[in-house]
Amino acid sequence: MQMTTTSRDHRQISSACAIIPLFERQRSALTRLLDTPQQNKVEKIIKQTGFSGQFEKTLTVHTPEARHQAVILVGLGKKNEWKRSRLRRAAAAAAEQAVKLDPDNIFADVLDAASQKLPHGDCIRHFATALHWAGYRYDKTKSKKAGKAKLRKCVFHAVAADADAARRALHQADATAYAGRLCRDLANLPGNVCTPSYLAAEARKLARTSQKIRLKVLRESDMERLGMGAFLSVSRGSREPGFLICLEYRNAAARQAPVALVGKGITFDTGGTSIKPSSAMDEMKFDMTGAASVLASVAFCARMKLKLNVVGLLACAENMPGGNASKPGDVVTTMSGQTVEILNTDAEGRLVLCDALTYAGRYKPECVVDVATLTGACVVALGHEASGLLSNDQKLADELIGAGETAGDRAWQLPMWDEYQSQLDSNFADIANIGGRGGGTITAACFMSRFTTDYRWAHLDIAGTAWHSGKRKGSSGRPVPLLTQFLLARAERQA
Ligand code: BES
Ligand code: ZN
Ligand code: MN
Repeated sequence: MQMTTTSRDHRQISSACAIIPLFERQRSALTRLLDTPQQNKVEKIIKQTGFSGQFEKTLTVHTPEARHQAVILVGLGKKNEWKRSRLRRAAAAAAEQAVKLDPDNIFADVLDAASQKLPHGDCIRHFATALHWAGYRYDKTKSKKAGKAKLRKCVFHAVAADADAARRALHQADATAYAGRLCRDLANLPGNVCTPSYLAAEARKLARTSQKIRLKVLRESDMERLGMGAFLSVSRGSREPGFLICLEYRNAAARQAPVALVGKGITFDTGGTSIKPSSAMDEMKFDMTGAASVLASVAFCARMKLKLNVVGLLACAENMPGGNASKPGDVVTTMSGQTVEILNTDAEGRLVLCDALTYAGRYKPECVVDVATLTGACVVALGHEASGLLSNDQKLADELIGAGETAGDRAWQLPMWDEYQSQLDSNFADIANIGGRGGGTITAACFMSRFTTDYRWAHLDIAGTAWHSGKRKGSSGRPVPLLTQFLLARAERQA
């Protein structure tokens, strides 16, 4: 889909569908955008339906005889309650209606949503991203392919002074959507298709699309040589071989230390010997979303040609209760030399990640961010709104929180105080792989903090945000918006 901006006079613009955000009981945008007969018809239907611009409410009016053949009004709510976090939701509501309508072109004027704190470019970025995002359909494993959306062209109004910011916003929205689709397609694929080998092949495919990406794939034999006993203790339980996939994106001076992104890539998590109950176990195919979002973020860098060095490490394995699987009480030696008592084989994410995090140190990274569907406790603590964030560096944590706010893909920080560390004490090894009953997200991060002492590090627990359950079951594409915004902002700061 092509998205462009225009600063032409409104009276010269026609469309199959116009998207117009409105604050409560405010009509000036209608006067500005519509001819009088169309405006009258819309006003009449507004009256009949009681639509008054309430937040997130929409009204679709068909006016086939008019310049805009249909109008989607989306409520922004009360002007004094308008804030950044509402922007994404209003945009999503409008986009959902647009997808239902399925027009072949759209005109959007979102200027009214802009304010001092919310630049017009941000509004355009959110509405553009929402339109891309809402049009996503998964059909990779369906024999009947989803009908293609008709939408070909989407034009945003932007006054000449905003045109540059608007174009940048559309470019970013396009690349974010592309990365989001990549992540969602991979995450939605079933475990029997999307294996660690499949992810390695996808990484190879991505590396071929750009000269700036180099791929290195560590096999289990390589990992044995490196002493990655924790990683191997997980992949050993499955017939599917595990891989540590390294995507190296270089587009800045060689002396510039890279940002390392490390993703949990458990392509299916049965729990291993500590097997999970069977209800909703199918959702554990999403347990590789961390890895998928890292791969997608590297793809975003290449698409945007970001002037950055980025390393994406995908820690990929299947967690199965095979004959070689770890047993509770087993002790393994990590690449760092520390020994781990595996008290629960279902706490496998931290086992593959701890060796990947040690390996990340070899890149002498500027900072490391790991992304993982790590703990059910995070879903209990934060629900599905915010990803959990824990860090050994407040500046890095604030940077990620800010990126999440800007992208409408929020994270919320949890403490990682020393006091929690003793929950990991073991009588038989240096550390146990689980803590006690309370603070499961925190003790998981505490576990990984033992392997990240050499660099600035943050951990994103996306267990509650990476996918939707129920009727909308499927990957949400999160935290791709957060990660890509984080990288983009870094590239812009360094420029
Ligand atoms: N992949 C799961 C975490 C998870 C659970 C994500 C539910 C989304 C929804 C992870 O590997 C896991 O099993 N964690 C255990 C840790 C426990 C054994 C300490 C958990 O959360 O129960
Ligand atoms: Zn898991
Ligand atoms: Mn598990």
